[in-house]
Amino acid sequence: MTARIIDGKAVAQRLREEVARRVAGLSFRPGLRVIRVGDDPASGVYVRNKDRAAAAAGFDSATLHLPAGISEAALLAELAALNADPAVDGILVQLPLPPQIRPEAVIDALDPAKDVDGFHPLNAGRLASGETGGLLPCTPKGVMHLLREAGAALPGARALVLGRSRIVGRPMAQLLLAADCTVTVAHSRTRDLAAECRRAEILVAAVGRAAMVRGDWIAEDAVVIDVGITRGADGRLVGDVAFAEAVTRAGAITPVPGGVGPMTIACLLENTLQAALARRGGG
Ligand code: GUN
Repeated sequence: MTARIIDGKAVAQRLREEVARRVAGLSFRPGLRVIRVGDDPASGVYVRNKDRAAAAAGFDSATLHLPAGISEAALLAELAALNADPAVDGILVQLPLPPQIRPEAVIDALDPAKDVDGFHPLNAGRLASGETGGLLPCTPKGVMHLLREAGAALPGARALVLGRSRIVGRPMAQLLLAADCTVTVAHSRTRDLAAECRRAEILVAAVGRAAMVRGDWIAEDAVVIDVGITRGADGRLVGDVAFAEAVTRAGAITPVPGGVGPMTIACLLENTLQAALARRGGG
């Protein structure tokens, strides 16, 4: 059997068009500010893609590129100005940050109403309390869209999240729990990862280690969502799952690239629109 390929590019495109249509009907342009600190090349690509997608959807979008050596206090001052600016609905600080800046200090300083990444403790806490109507982290939110698109039967399903990061693993587990899955979170200290994976009807891999999940770790017919994206020895982008092996066992699977990646950006646009509507009303 060959798994159905979940086309994240197509799902993301539809979501982006829907956001653009809704933005076009507003009497104002929702404002997004993306902050890049330093010159990490991967962050440069992500930030450019986010900014372009926001502009294409009709947002008032701009990137602030700050020097790698900026002090934490100076970055917090920039954030305070954006928090106070009524034209700004969404603020995103691209991670990782240089070592002199504590990411928690930056995330804590964001106005939770403008926190379109959903990382602020107030938004994370709401999600952990079972509220799913607030600003949700973009990648796990995108994964939920893909699971629904794939027709995955969520209530009661055994779901395994591989990874426990603030950006993906933890909020992913909360969202699956809110969707009535039976959720396990596995991580670098988990014993017998392969056995945990083999039990999973839904497997979300978010560890950032190329092809770590082998085909024989995948249960027959499982829905496999691969969040990982790293560059292999041959320069090609690869996920956390050994795709060629897994595709012969899974029921449905996301490719890398073209799976989760495009959904992250589409959900950022969705979050920015949501933040704008919550701050300003329907326009
Ligand atoms: N770095 C990697 N993923 C993300 C993300 O979703 N948001 C931000 N701000 N930085 C990231």
